[in-house]
Amino acid sequence: MKGIILAGGSGTRLYPLTKALSKQALPIYNKPMIYYPLSVLMLCNIRDILIISTPRDIEVFKEMFFNGSDIGLNISYASQDKPRGIADAFIVGKDFIKEDNVALILGDNIFYGYKFEQKLINAINNNKGATIFGYHVENPCDFGVVEFDNKYNALSIEEKPKQPKSNYAVPGLYFYNNEVVEIAKKVKPSDRGELEITSINNEYLKKGNLKVELLEKETAWIDTGTYEGLLNAAKFIETIEKRQNIHIGYIEEIAYKKGYINKEKLIELSKSLIKTEYGKYLLKVANGG
Ligand code: DAU
Repeated sequence: MKGIILAGGSGTRLYPLTKALSKQALPIYNKPMIYYPLSVLMLCNIRDILIISTPRDIEVFKEMFFNGSDIGLNISYASQDKPRGIADAFIVGKDFIKEDNVALILGDNIFYGYKFEQKLINAINNNKGATIFGYHVENPCDFGVVEFDNKYNALSIEEKPKQPKSNYAVPGLYFYNNEVVEIAKKVKPSDRGELEITSINNEYLKKGNLKVELLEKETAWIDTGTYEGLLNAAKFIETIEKRQNIHIGYIEEIAYKKGYINKEKLIELSKSLIKTEYGKYLLKVANGG
C-alpha cells in the first residue's frame, strides 16, 4: 500500500500564522505538524509516500525530508496548483499510486491511541474497498458525519451537515483500493465548489464496499484547524510526553523500531539534534533506553 499526505490548502482559518507559512509546517510542541501524519503512515508499514502541497509550500517539505532515505522511506512530492478539494489528491497522485492500494491522511490530523498501530494494520489487512473511521465528537457539523444503523453499519455520510444524523465524525485517514483513482475522476464539485472526500466515500458506500471502523475514546484525534486547536494539540503532546513518558510522532524512532534504519544511523540522526530533548530522546532509544 502507498500513502499520500495532503498538506496544501490555503490555511486562511489560521491567518496571520499561515499567511506566509505552510500550516502543516507549524510547530505542534516540539516538531512540525506533518511529522504526526507521517508517523501514522509509518505505523501502517507504508514506506512509499507522496506529499502533496501548494506550489509555494512544497519546497519546505522537500527541505524537511529530502527523498526520505534518512528514515528508510521513499518520499516524493507533488504540487496541487489550487485547493480543489481533498478528493483531488487521487487525481494529482495518480502517477504515484499506479496499480496500488492507497492510504490518504490529511496533513493537519493528529492521532494517538492505545493499540492504534495494530488497529491500523488490521484495517489495512481487512480492507476490501474503502475503510474509514468514525470518532464521537461534540461538534459533528464541522466534519464529514457518518450515520449508522443499530449494528453500526454505515447508512449515510454527509459533509458538514447543518443537522447531523449522528455525533460520529470521519477523521482524515482513509484506506482505499485502487478503484479510488477512477472514482475520484468522476467526482463533481460540491455546492461549496470542492471535490469532496465524502463523495468518494459515498460511492464506496453505494457499492457496499465501505467499512467504517469506530475509534474508541482511548484514541485521541486532534483537530488543529483553529488557534485553540493548535494550542491544545501542543499541550496534549507535551503533557503525555512529560507526565506519561509517551513519545508521539518521533519518525526516526519509528524507522528504527520498524528496522528501516540501524542503531548507527539513529545515533547519527540524534547527534544533529543533540542540543534538544528530542535528540537526547533519540539517543536514549538507540542505546536501548
Ligand atoms: O479533519 C477531518 C475532516 O477533513 C473530515 O471530517 C471532512 O469530511 C473533510 O472534508 C475534511 O474537512 P476540513 O474542512 O477539515 O478540510 P480542510 O479544507 O481543512 O482540509 C483538510 C486538510 O487538507 C488541510 O490540511 C488542507 C488540506 N487540503 C485541503 C483541500 C480542500 C489540501 O491540501 N488541498 C485541498 O484542496
